[in-house]
Amino acid sequence: MKLELEIKPLNAAPDTCTQLTAMLVETVAGGGSVGFMHPLTPEAATTFWDGALAAVSRGERIILGGWNGPQLIGTVTLILNTPPNQPHRAEIAKMMTRPRWRGQGVASALLREAEALAVKNGRTMLVLDTASDEGAAGLYESLGYTFAGELPDYALKPHGGLTGTRLYWKRIGG
Ligand SMILES: CC(C)(COP(=O)(O)OP(=O)(O)OC[C@H]1O[C@@H](n2cnc3c(N)ncnc32)[C@H](O)[C@@H]1OP(=O)(O)O)[C@@H](O)C(=O)NCCC(=O)NCCS
Repeated sequence: MKLELEIKPLNAAPDTCTQLTAMLVETVAGGGSVGFMHPLTPEAATTFWDGALAAVSRGERIILGGWNGPQLIGTVTLILNTPPNQPHRAEIAKMMTRPRWRGQGVASALLREAEALAVKNGRTMLVLDTASDEGAAGLYESLGYTFAGELPDYALKPHGGLTGTRLYWKRIGG
């Protein structure tokens, strides 16, 4: 199937939440370290996205969707509600591409758009973390993020067993 990627900020439309839920359940089942354990129920995934989309409506985060026609094939979140002494900083989270569409630049395109929106929001520093085991370090390094260090035994992998986390940062908008 041909990819015609369109990237848009998401809001709390019912179909959007349904597709985000399916993507999160599938990602966790596939071993993606995005904050949850397998098996993740659709109800728990929906609760997460409902909360996240409510934060979007308060301006606390931006959730970008990568669409191929009516199908949501990737997402990334830009967290903007940093503490008062960090108004220049934002965080990248919940980066996912549906397995069928991986390896075609979807995540890179979503990250670039998230960076552009961070700059528009006056941010000059982005931070993120990714699992040491089966994480996405290569993706972030290919986009110019700097490895800051590794925290051991930081989280459980979705199917069990501890993994460290690798911390990254990138200056933007300079
Ligand atoms: C990580 C993920 C989002 C990448 O999505 P994608 O759309 O396939 O990524 P892209 O096609 O844009 O890849 C861009 C680059 O990153 C590299 N890359 C992508 N995923 C990678 C991974 N898991 N590990 C190492 N490198 C990776 C690619 O090789 C590519 O490099 P290139 O441009 O030099 O060829 C996807 O594999 C995924 O959803 N994984 C499960 C969830 C997860 O781990 N998310 C990260 C949480 S921090």
